[in-house]
Amino acid sequence: MTDAVVPAGAPAAARPWWKSAVVYQIYPRSFADTNGDGIGDLGGVRAHLDHLVWLGVDALWLSPFYRSPMADFGYDVSDYCAVDPLFGTLDDFDALVREAHDRDLKVVVDWVPNHSSDQHPWFVESRSSRDNPKAEWYVWRDPAPDGGVPNNWIRSWSDQPAWTFDETRGQYYLHCFLPEQPDLNWANPAVEAAMQDTLRFWLDRGVDGFRMDVIHLIGKDPTLPDDPEDLAALSHVPLNDRPETHELLRGLRRLLDGYDGDRMSVGEVYLLDTADVATYYGDHDELHLNFNFPPLFTAWDATKWAKQIARAEHELNEIDAWPTWVLSNHDNRRHATRYGGVEARSRAAAVLLLTLRGTPFLYAGEELGLEDAVVPADRVVDPGGRDGCRGPIPWDATPERGWGTVDPWLPWPPDTGTRNAASQLADPGSIAHLYRRLLHARRSSAAWQSGSYERLDAPEGVLAFQRVAAGDRRVVLINFTDRPADVAATGTIEVSTTREHEGETFAGHLEPDEAVVLRP
Ligand code: GLC
Ligand code: CA
Repeated sequence: MTDAVVPAGAPAAARPWWKSAVVYQIYPRSFADTNGDGIGDLGGVRAHLDHLVWLGVDALWLSPFYRSPMADFGYDVSDYCAVDPLFGTLDDFDALVREAHDRDLKVVVDWVPNHSSDQHPWFVESRSSRDNPKAEWYVWRDPAPDGGVPNNWIRSWSDQPAWTFDETRGQYYLHCFLPEQPDLNWANPAVEAAMQDTLRFWLDRGVDGFRMDVIHLIGKDPTLPDDPEDLAALSHVPLNDRPETHELLRGLRRLLDGYDGDRMSVGEVYLLDTADVATYYGDHDELHLNFNFPPLFTAWDATKWAKQIARAEHELNEIDAWPTWVLSNHDNRRHATRYGGVEARSRAAAVLLLTLRGTPFLYAGEELGLEDAVVPADRVVDPGGRDGCRGPIPWDATPERGWGTVDPWLPWPPDTGTRNAASQLADPGSIAHLYRRLLHARRSSAAWQSGSYERLDAPEGVLAFQRVAAGDRRVVLINFTDRPADVAATGTIEVSTTREHEGETFAGHLEPDEAVVLRP
């Protein structure tokens, strides 16, 4: 179903759920621990589903909880159809889906199709000889004539080759990430079929969708040419953009659309040009949604943001594709930290994220205004150095912060004495309550959920836009500066980041860092 045939403001049921949903990302290791080993688990997610309901999000996305040696903390999967014992059991997962659905929360799971763990039985077999049944399940190549690597590709988080030599086969295997994460060979139909079966496994258990990890990598140029010399210092990851992938995505889309209930795919397309990202929607026959990362890498600046929004609106409207918005995730510094650690600004960022046209993705803890944990060198564990944004979520003000231990796998983020869920829920002036007011107000407005986006005139440093649907309208004003600003706009303040004057007529004035949503 396309936007064009659904009148704006039509009942929610007429639109697929993922167009009006707000998705909440959970990084299971860091969310909540129920057995005191200092590592979050599926029981912890179940225990806090009511927090998500209180907040007013519609779906949760679980980062990987599959069996894994954890070289990349679960993005190295050794069994696509099993829960790692660290996180619980398949029964725990089934219970989580049931309990989420009972609360009208959709469940989206991560899916890591580009690479498995080197401990996956498929790779163990593949590397055992050149002629075993899985010999062609990974990307193997003979050494270059001088014995060196087959091409100049660089792996992620390093200046090292994306190739590792295997003594047994006398060949190199490709890994766009760690050597422990060999790339699967999607050019082999047996791999495509096996990976499609892993989707069916979770679809049959009732999941509502998949976040598809670095999905743009699955199709590769069969000749594996060198990356261009001038870009060759970059990892191959942001450079791989191939027609082979689009063909594979059409197959995945047919599979998902063959199930009832609008099962959704959102691609992690790590290409840093919105026009390139747009192609992964296909002609309504590839991914339902895609992450668009250029805005995530944009500074907190009204003009720069206006450009990013215009870009996304232009590239995606043209092909009737639905945008997504992300400010924080498990791979990047939290936006509270990136934007300078000023809470008023984090509040304004919440208004931006939750009022743009498209599906917002929140990262657990941003509703508490969390900043990155400060991780001393001797506690860094991530091969990509992304530990800070993975600091554990504090649930209350006790020394254990609601975990079974005072000392979880990573250090706590700063200020958890006040930045914890219990303290913030008890304080109507907290940032958590702001997220809640925004999320609940959003639900009752067709303009907010699905209306058009139109930028409005505003003084420098202020971003102003309206969202319009039949019979409904919202005006959003965001002061990106730490100076007060006067803006000629009219309406009633539905939500303000300061909570002052909500329900009153807007008087044309924004405090420093203030953002407001106005209704007619
Ligand atoms: C994606 C994930 C990241 C992971 C990488 C390799 O970018 O978000 O956490 O390390 O893929 O799977
Ligand atoms: Ca645990």
